[in-house]
Amino acid sequence: MSTTRTTTATGTSERIRDADEVKALAEVLVTAATRAPSPHNTQPWRFEARGDGIALHLDRTRLLGVADPDGREARLACGAALFNLRLEARARGIAAATELLPDRNVPDLLGVVRLAGTHRPTGEERTLASAIPRRHTNRRPFAEEQPPEPLRHGLRRAAQLESGLLDFLDEPTRFADLARLIRSAEAAQRDDDAFMAELRCWTTGVASVRDGVPARSSGPPPLEEGLVTLRRYGRGRRPPRPYEQVPLLGVVLTNEDDQHAQLVGGHVMQRVLLAATAAGLSTSFVSQPMEVPSVKRELDRLVGSQGHPQTVLRIGYGYPALPTPRRPAREVTTGLPPVAEPG
Ligand SMILES: Cc1cc2nc3c(=O)[nH]c(=O)nc-3n(C[C@H](O)[C@H](O)[C@H](O)COP(=O)(O)O)c2cc1C
Repeated sequence: MSTTRTTTATGTSERIRDADEVKALAEVLVTAATRAPSPHNTQPWRFEARGDGIALHLDRTRLLGVADPDGREARLACGAALFNLRLEARARGIAAATELLPDRNVPDLLGVVRLAGTHRPTGEERTLASAIPRRHTNRRPFAEEQPPEPLRHGLRRAAQLESGLLDFLDEPTRFADLARLIRSAEAAQRDDDAFMAELRCWTTGVASVRDGVPARSSGPPPLEEGLVTLRRYGRGRRPPRPYEQVPLLGVVLTNEDDQHAQLVGGHVMQRVLLAATAAGLSTSFVSQPMEVPSVKRELDRLVGSQGHPQTVLRIGYGYPALPTPRRPAREVTTGLPPVAEPG
């Protein structure tokens, strides 16, 4: 059965009337979900097209045992995927609502996005949804010039709308403290054989591989070691380039720090990333301090009582970054209708 398209005042929308129609749309919605970022591009998710919507399960075979033993970063990634899914549905005119951790007996069922009825998309939903395929992690140098206060305000607002906070550590002392934590965690990880083996395992040089980080997505080596050290995937032979001396760094914070909060943190992170993309900004992650427990405790102290750090983002102006590959929706989703035979 095909989905009925209707034209509303705001454009084309898809009218969901029954379970078959939900499933017919699932492939396109899951494709948007899988554009979410994930640590080392592990894509730690499985989707299930159901009669009432689309469920997301944590794929434990894709957890990073060294960098992310508790699965925090995987849950952030899955929270971001759920955010994309709901946003894409709404931007297409479908009423969509997310329930996180809907069944306490099935802890790896991280969320269900229920789809029913029509929704009039807002301009903001359309703008953010159009940024989903354009958002890429950009590990290249950014301009020295930092985004001005009105843009920062927009990103803080994006975080608040998803019940989180974005704390820019731009005051010189706090920035210097965070930069020190990043350098210290990066050094600890470079000295950790198990961490480096895991990193190599998820670094790819082959275009046909659809997960992991292609070495070409790494930035060029820095001309001189700056205040903040970015993670490098692969050691290409590209000539060194200067990076911005003082990057704008923002810490994504949530009110709590349990598994539910980590999924909320994924919503917050993704809304900030999409809002930044829509505003013409480039973004990347600096999560080394989140991944080394002793440094993470120092980061907790640095942000104080405002909330619990979930990830650290670098935001600025850069040349466009390349997209990284994804496994196609059909490979990661059960319950899709069979592909129609041609003609
Ligand atoms: C929670 C989390 C932590 C991440 N940490 C880092 C990091 O420390 N350094 C880095 O270069 N990329 C980091 N990434 C970015 C991923 O490598 C990236 O999302 C993935 O390769 C997919 O590429 P894309 O974001 O361009 O779609 C992180 C992503 C997530 C979701």
